[in-house]
Amino acid sequence: MKVLVCGGSGYIGSNMTATLAENGHEPFVYDNLSKGHVSAVKDAQFIKGDLADYELLVKTLKENEIDAVMHFAAFIEVGESVAEPLKYYHNNVSNTQTVLAAMETVGVGKFVFSSTAAVYGMPNQIPINEDMPKDPINPYGQTKWASERMLHWQCNAGKVRYAALRYFNACGAGHDCTLGEDHSPESHLIPLIIQAAMGKREDIKIFGTDYPTKDGTCIRDYIHVEDLCSAHLLALEKLEKEKELVYNLGNGKGYSVREVIETVKKVSGKNFKVVETQRRPGDPPVLTSDASRAISELGWKTKLADIEKIVETAWQWHNKYPNGYQD
Ligand code: UFG
Repeated sequence: MKVLVCGGSGYIGSNMTATLAENGHEPFVYDNLSKGHVSAVKDAQFIKGDLADYELLVKTLKENEIDAVMHFAAFIEVGESVAEPLKYYHNNVSNTQTVLAAMETVGVGKFVFSSTAAVYGMPNQIPINEDMPKDPINPYGQTKWASERMLHWQCNAGKVRYAALRYFNACGAGHDCTLGEDHSPESHLIPLIIQAAMGKREDIKIFGTDYPTKDGTCIRDYIHVEDLCSAHLLALEKLEKEKELVYNLGNGKGYSVREVIETVKKVSGKNFKVVETQRRPGDPPVLTSDASRAISELGWKTKLADIEKIVETAWQWHNKYPNGYQD
């Protein structure tokens, strides 16, 4: 298939682009480079464009005879979304609408959407399955959920087939550890700990040690980026027959912040300063997935469920690119 990867120069999008190419598909990356890195784009044609540019989207879909769109281009900072909600509604909702409108105009009928566990807000039951209440507690989660609803109704009208994939904590580096996490600013736990291990930051702060968990720190379900990509590929193929797919993507296994810090210490062989601080507002104590639907319906199998193996891939990428991507 010819697949337009919106946000294909970002962390998950660049891994997906490489996965598509490796599996006999033809990826085209569409990205405005506001966050991504052109050097992370492998084996794909690159189109520099903005998602708000309807005309360019129509032209791109038409000229390249695109069969399906995968959409990773979104803002992802929870704290920023609380401070700047309209920025998030514009990029995460309005721009998703523009992509869908361009697809409708050209007649492109398959869409794979990058969604998030943040749609569940503060769940009252763990592990989380897809049918549990959607009650986001910040604009980031809300904009992803709004886009899912838009997809549902666009699908109901017979205009698109779609898969919404709700990631838990995406992490690790893919494709021989050449495609990793290079966010600016960085707010995710594993890259931040690695930066502390590399001496690039003074310490790692633990946000809250009084949670009702085994060691007092938050528990998350870490899922390797290549495992996310394999689920996208399976979902894309399943859209040949199905019109509406919604899956949680996680390992179903939780690790605490302290456990992740200890894992980075073990993998890197480095010691660094750990500072216990206040809770970060809006963090649920435990988020783990019930991904049994993706496992049974897609035949999805994760390959890198072990936190040590996941961290090893991230550690290797950070050592290959100590200053991140050059462009
Ligand atoms: N944490 C720290 N110190 C840090 C950074 C993070 O203790 O310096 C803690 C957080 O408080 C949290 C855990 O590490 O308990 C993981 O934090 P991340 O920021 O790496 O990830 P989140 O679980 O907050 O967020 C992830 C995705 C979001 C998504 C959310 C949905 O990054 O995009 O899961 O559950 F919305």
